[in-house]
Amino acid sequence: MQPTPHAPDALFPDALLVEVAWEVCNQVGGIYTVIRSKVPATMPAWGERYCLLGPYFANQAQGEFEPMDELALHTASDPYAAAVRAMRAQGYDVQLGTWLVTGRPRTVLINPFQAYPQLGQLKTDLWTRHGIPAPDTDDLLHQVIAFGHLTTIFFQHVAQQVVAGQRLLGHFHEWMTGVAIPELRRLQVPAHLLFTTHATLLGRYLAMNDAAFYDHLMWVDWEAEAKKFNIEPAVRMERAAAHGSHVFTTVSELTVRECIYLLDRIPDAVLPNGLNIERFVALHEFQNLHQQYKAKIHEFVMAHFFQSYAFDLDKTLYFFTSGRYEYHNKGFDLTLEALARLNHRLQQSGLEGQVVMFFITKRPFTSINPQVLERRAVLDEVRETCRAIEHQVGERLFYAAAASQDHKLPELGAMVDDYWKLRYRRTLQSWKTTALPPVITHNLVNDGDDDILNFMRRADLLNHRHDRVKMVYHPDFVSPSSPLLGMEYGQFVRGCHMGVFPSYYEPWGYTPLECVARGVPAITSDLSGFGDYVLQTIPDPEQKGIFVVHRQEKSFDESAEELTEMLWQFVQLSRRERIMQRNAVESSAELFDWKNLRVHYDRAYALALERQ
Ligand code: G6P
Ligand code: GLC
Repeated sequence: MQPTPHAPDALFPDALLVEVAWEVCNQVGGIYTVIRSKVPATMPAWGERYCLLGPYFANQAQGEFEPMDELALHTASDPYAAAVRAMRAQGYDVQLGTWLVTGRPRTVLINPFQAYPQLGQLKTDLWTRHGIPAPDTDDLLHQVIAFGHLTTIFFQHVAQQVVAGQRLLGHFHEWMTGVAIPELRRLQVPAHLLFTTHATLLGRYLAMNDAAFYDHLMWVDWEAEAKKFNIEPAVRMERAAAHGSHVFTTVSELTVRECIYLLDRIPDAVLPNGLNIERFVALHEFQNLHQQYKAKIHEFVMAHFFQSYAFDLDKTLYFFTSGRYEYHNKGFDLTLEALARLNHRLQQSGLEGQVVMFFITKRPFTSINPQVLERRAVLDEVRETCRAIEHQVGERLFYAAAASQDHKLPELGAMVDDYWKLRYRRTLQSWKTTALPPVITHNLVNDGDDDILNFMRRADLLNHRHDRVKMVYHPDFVSPSSPLLGMEYGQFVRGCHMGVFPSYYEPWGYTPLECVARGVPAITSDLSGFGDYVLQTIPDPEQKGIFVVHRQEKSFDESAEELTEMLWQFVQLSRRERIMQRNAVESSAELFDWKNLRVHYDRAYALALERQ
C-alpha cells in the first residue's frame, strides 16, 4: 500500500500498525482514555495504515461502533478489509468499521464467544505450549483466551496481505490482549510486536495489601504471591507477553521498577499518557464554564445542607477526589486525615468560609438515601413557590409602574396573594430540620464495613454545623441522569475548585490530568506516574497549580501534614488568586497533549521495527 497522500508527517510510510486493546469501544477503566484520546494525534501520521482491534460486546459497541456496509467491505482495497474478508470466508464473525470518536479510526471487533466451543483445546495448548494454566471457573480468563486465539488468526491474515517492502507492527495493551503474543511468536508470524503494561497485576494486589510495598518490592517471590492471590494464570499471561514482545513498555518510571522486580524484564521504553487537549479560542470561556457548573453544584449543596443550616455559598470551596474504590491505593486514607486536620485548623483560625469535599467512587448500594432525595424535592418546592411569587409580583409591579403617579416603589409584599404567602410559610416550615446533613448520599450494601464512613465516624467528621470541612460521599459515578448531581463528570470537575489525588499506588492516574486539562488545580503524589512525570518535567509545578505530595520514603503522618499544608494554603487564596491560578493550570495543559507525547510511541515503533 502507498503512504497515505494526506499525511505530511507520516513517519514509517512502509509500516502498518494494529493497536490491540480490551477497551477499544468498551470502556472499563483508564486504557479506554489512553486509546481513545490518542486517536486524533495518531491519525495524521498513520491514516489508513492504522487499525484498532478489540473484543466485540454488543451492548458496549452499540453507539460507539459503526460497521462498514457490505458493499464497501467488499470493494475496500486495504489489508485490514482483506483480512476481515478472508476470516469471514472461513466462517468467523468479524466486524470492520469505524469507532465513532474524534479521528474516526478504522476498527476491527471480534466476538470472543465464537471460540468458546474450542476453549478446552485452547487451554490445553496454552498450557503445553506456554506453561499458562487456566481454571474452569473464571469467565474473564475464558474471554481473554478466546480473544487471544482470534487475534492470532487476524494477525496471520493481515501478515499475508503485507506486500514486499512493507512491515507490520502489532501493539498490545495489558495482559488481556497480550496473551496472543507468545502464540504469534511460536507461529513466527512476521510482525514486530510491542507490549505495554499499564500496571503489573501483582503490583496492584501487593500495594493494596502491604503497607510497605515499595520496601518489599525487591524481594517478592512472584510465583508464590500470584498463587496466594489466586491470579496465577493472568500473571503468567502478563509475563509471557512481556517476555515475548520485541519491545516491552510501560506508562511511567514508577511502573518500570515493578516490571523489573515482578515481571523480570526491564522495559525498553516509558510511554507517558496524554490527553487530546482542546482549548477554547476565548481564554475566559473555561472560566465562565467554571462559574456555570459551580452554580449547579451550589444547587445540590443548598438542597443537601441548608435544610439543617445555611452558609455563604460565595465563601465555599468545592474539593473532590474520584476513582476506583481502593481506599489505600488511591490515598483516600491520606485525604481524609488531611481533611480532618484542615477542619481543625479552620476552626482555630477565625478564617471565614468552608470546604465541601466530595468523594466520587463506586460502591455497591441499594438506593439513593430517601432523606437526601427528599431534601432535594423540598428545595425544588421552595424554588417553585418563589418563582410563582416572583411572577405574580413582577406582573403586578409592571402594571403598577405603568399606572404610577408618584414614581415611588410600591409595597411589594402587598402584591402577593394570601394563598402564596401561606404556601410560602408552609413550605419553609417543612424545610427546616434539626437532623445533620447526611455524609453519604446512598444506602450502601455494607455500611458498617466501609472504610471511608468508618473514618468519618471515628474522626467525628459528620457535617456538624461547626465543621468547616463538610463531607459528601457519593458512591456512584456522576451522571446527567442522576437526580442528585445531574451533570457529566467533566462538568462536575469544572465546577469544583480543586481535585485531590495523593495516591499510594498509581501507575499513571488520569484524574489529576483531567483536572489540569479543564483548568482546575490538582493534587497528585510522587507515587503516581503522573506526579512523578510532573516532578521530572515541570520546574515549579505548584506555580502551575499542580501540587505533588511526597510519599516516597515518607511516613503517613509526614505526607498527611504536607497535604494539609497544601489545602491550607489553597483555602487562603483570594478569588482573584484562584482565577489567576486556574489560568496558569489551563495554560500548562498543552504539555500533556498527545501531539507532544506521541513521540514516545513513535520511538518505540522505530525500535520495534529494528527488532526481528
Ligand atoms: C470564573 C468566572 C468569574 C467568577 C469566578 C469565581 O473565573 O469567570 O466571573 O468570579 O469564576 O471563582 P471561584 O474560584 O470563586 O469559584
Ligand atoms: C491503569 C493504571 C492507571 C493508568 C491507566 C492508563 O488503569 O492503574 O494508573 O492511568 O492504566 O494507563
